[in-house]
Amino acid sequence: MRRKIIAGNWKMNKNLEEGLSLASEVTNMAADEVPNDVTMVMCTPAIHLSAVSTTTKDSSNVFVGAQNMSEYESGAYTGDLSGNMVASTGATFVIIGHSERREYHFETNAQLAQRVKLALSIGLTPIFCCGESLKTREANEHIDFVNKQLDESLFDLSAEDIKKIVIAYEPIWAIGTGVTASSEQAQEMHRSIRSFIATQYTHEVAKEISILYGGSMKPGNAQELLSQPDVDGGLIGGASLKARDFIDIAKSY
Ligand code: 13P
Repeated sequence: MRRKIIAGNWKMNKNLEEGLSLASEVTNMAADEVPNDVTMVMCTPAIHLSAVSTTTKDSSNVFVGAQNMSEYESGAYTGDLSGNMVASTGATFVIIGHSERREYHFETNAQLAQRVKLALSIGLTPIFCCGESLKTREANEHIDFVNKQLDESLFDLSAEDIKKIVIAYEPIWAIGTGVTASSEQAQEMHRSIRSFIATQYTHEVAKEISILYGGSMKPGNAQELLSQPDVDGGLIGGASLKARDFIDIAKSY
């Protein structure tokens, strides 16, 4: 049975003190208000991972994730973060291939394929991001574009391994813009992703993979998006920076 996941991506926000206070608010509120079958993840700046992991360590459904990791195990890569370092903080998830990283750091599908493999080998759960630009959608090439991202970064994985990953569909035009994909647009893409996986693997495998929607998800629109049959959760930017909003999204299931 695939998991319901509400993940927050803090991006480059919150200093340590602010981050710790948000993390403990979220953890306490989740214990009181969020059903146990909803997994919550806070993807914090790397420098906060260890401290935030301490805050969440007794929680049964709040976990910590990094926003990125290197495709290399270790070595002379100044400023980079290895998967092993991430795991050693207590974090259990890692975002791979966010569109902001693809755009500003020129991350390629091939590089991301290596990161996904390495993350899995360390026991981290990758949240693999995909999604098209407005131009690509307007050209009606969004499905092909996303399929290529999946094909080039994920389809070397074994059936056992691909079942362990989480996919986040984040249309670039909906990120931080206040424009959300309609529930029909989200469902169309999520269903397409699941059936593309089914054609490469099996229907059984595709059914196990949680596919999250990301892009201006907030308490006011979460319920409609999350009620779609192939939308298994959200990857939330802005609204994850306020504990009340983040928790309210998780409660909309
Ligand atoms: P917003 O929720 O701020 O649109 O960000 C989405 C996102 O990029 C999450 O990774």
